[in-house]
Amino acid sequence: MSSLLRNFEDVNLDSKEPLEEPQRQYYFMAKCREWVKRKEKELNRPLTFSVVTFGCQMNAKDSEKLAGILEKIGYVPVEGEEADFVVYNTCTVRENANTRVYGRLGHLNNLKRKNPNMMIALCGCMMQEDAVVDKIRKSYRFVDMIFGTHNIFKLAELIDTRLSSRTMIIDIWKDTKLIVEDLPSERKYRFKAGVNIMYGCNNFCSYCIVPYVRGRERSRNPEDIVKEVEELVADGVVEIMLLGQNVNSYGKNLEEPISFAALLARLEEIEGLKRIRFMTSHPKDLSDELIEVMKNSKKICRHLHLPVQSGSTEVLKKMNRNYTKESYLNLAEKIRTAMPDISLTTDIIVGFPGETEEDFLETLEVVEKVRYDSAYTFLYSKRSGTPAAVMENQVEEAVAKERFDRLLKTVQGIAGEMTGRMEGTEEEILVEEINSQDTSLLTGRLSNNSLVHFKGPEDLIGKLVKVKLSQCKGFYYFGELAEG
Ligand code: SAH
Ligand code: SF4
Ligand code: F3S
Repeated sequence: MSSLLRNFEDVNLDSKEPLEEPQRQYYFMAKCREWVKRKEKELNRPLTFSVVTFGCQMNAKDSEKLAGILEKIGYVPVEGEEADFVVYNTCTVRENANTRVYGRLGHLNNLKRKNPNMMIALCGCMMQEDAVVDKIRKSYRFVDMIFGTHNIFKLAELIDTRLSSRTMIIDIWKDTKLIVEDLPSERKYRFKAGVNIMYGCNNFCSYCIVPYVRGRERSRNPEDIVKEVEELVADGVVEIMLLGQNVNSYGKNLEEPISFAALLARLEEIEGLKRIRFMTSHPKDLSDELIEVMKNSKKICRHLHLPVQSGSTEVLKKMNRNYTKESYLNLAEKIRTAMPDISLTTDIIVGFPGETEEDFLETLEVVEKVRYDSAYTFLYSKRSGTPAAVMENQVEEAVAKERFDRLLKTVQGIAGEMTGRMEGTEEEILVEEINSQDTSLLTGRLSNNSLVHFKGPEDLIGKLVKVKLSQCKGFYYFGELAEG
């Protein structure tokens, strides 16, 4: 797409809106921008926006796209929720994610009463559920627009529709094959960026709502990904995080299939790019080719997030994970043999329907054998519409809670030991920010994803530097800038 279009110079607001994307959205961005300009004159101040993100990195990336569109329209970003345009980008992976959103909506209503110019938009995974949309339509009438995960690119068009209508705009797509390229996106960090390589998920793990709210798996063309990364690097980015629910099945359904490992090899060649991360890897699809590419790479970080979910083959079967305890352990072993310095991290669900004490002990055993650098542990949450929600033998809350506490203790003990294994060595970090707790320190990240706090000049932010890892403090290090 031409850069002219990005600058709106190609947009003729006197003609009808184009039908094709992304041109259509640039038309609506230009149109909304005219409205924002008029409004600013009327109010004699800029119009502000705030995007509040719940959920995973996929949502965080979507929020950057929403922010990109809003900035193009002329809104100015602010922290907090006292803004003229507030978007909640929601998550529904566990019940407590939904509860948090409802809890905060009341507060938004109060803010809107004080600011008659305020618009409220709800989007993201939770909005893909009919029951949620019904509830908001009936009980949260102050909301201006609701859209889902498949049409966030349409934000400008939805705002335009809202401006000429008096009622709540609801636009939810059930699924889509569409991938709209070349839309604006606002990065949180200037030196690192998330890059979608695929959308949706086809795995249907029996507990998980994601395939229902994110639709079927769709991979972006490798050329589009390479082009985006090249542009990011030209704009100062040195580290990218490739995003997908199951990156290991990237490219399989493209017209010209390509493996994830082959995509990585292509990205490795981009000059100026220093670090490549990715998530998430599904153990069932992790290939020998990927291990080989990682092992030989100078840029792919020494970190693999490899969600195990449970250590019991019986439970894994009911979860529809398509691997066994033994095959997972073998895989972890193979990865460690190829890359002894790698960090493995994981996700674990406790209290899946039918989980017995013996099943749980197998999970503990896997944790002890694999020795994760960190693990996200979750209490099983029933998601209506998923197969697990109607399974027999749902585990009692008190039992699940007790197992959860035991798991957490084991995980934390091992994580502390694992993180500390690099104490005393000199390593490269990417300096990310001023430490939020102690502003005399900077914070950087090791290749294996551990954090290091150290004293140094602020202009190191965004740079790769060597530090000595003087002291491990459980889950992070204190370091010192290395000489030279
Ligand atoms: N695609 C990624 C995970 C996406 S959801 C993967 O397959 O690993 C992130 C994590 O949330 C999952 O790994 C799982 O551990 C957890 N999760 C998903 N559904 C859940 C549920 N119903 N209850 C509790 N945890 C859940
Ligand atoms: Fe959910 Fe499984 Fe897909 Fe991950 S792979 S998003 S856990 S269905
Ligand atoms: Fe992510 Fe939550 Fe959606 S985990 S994909 S934001 S349901």
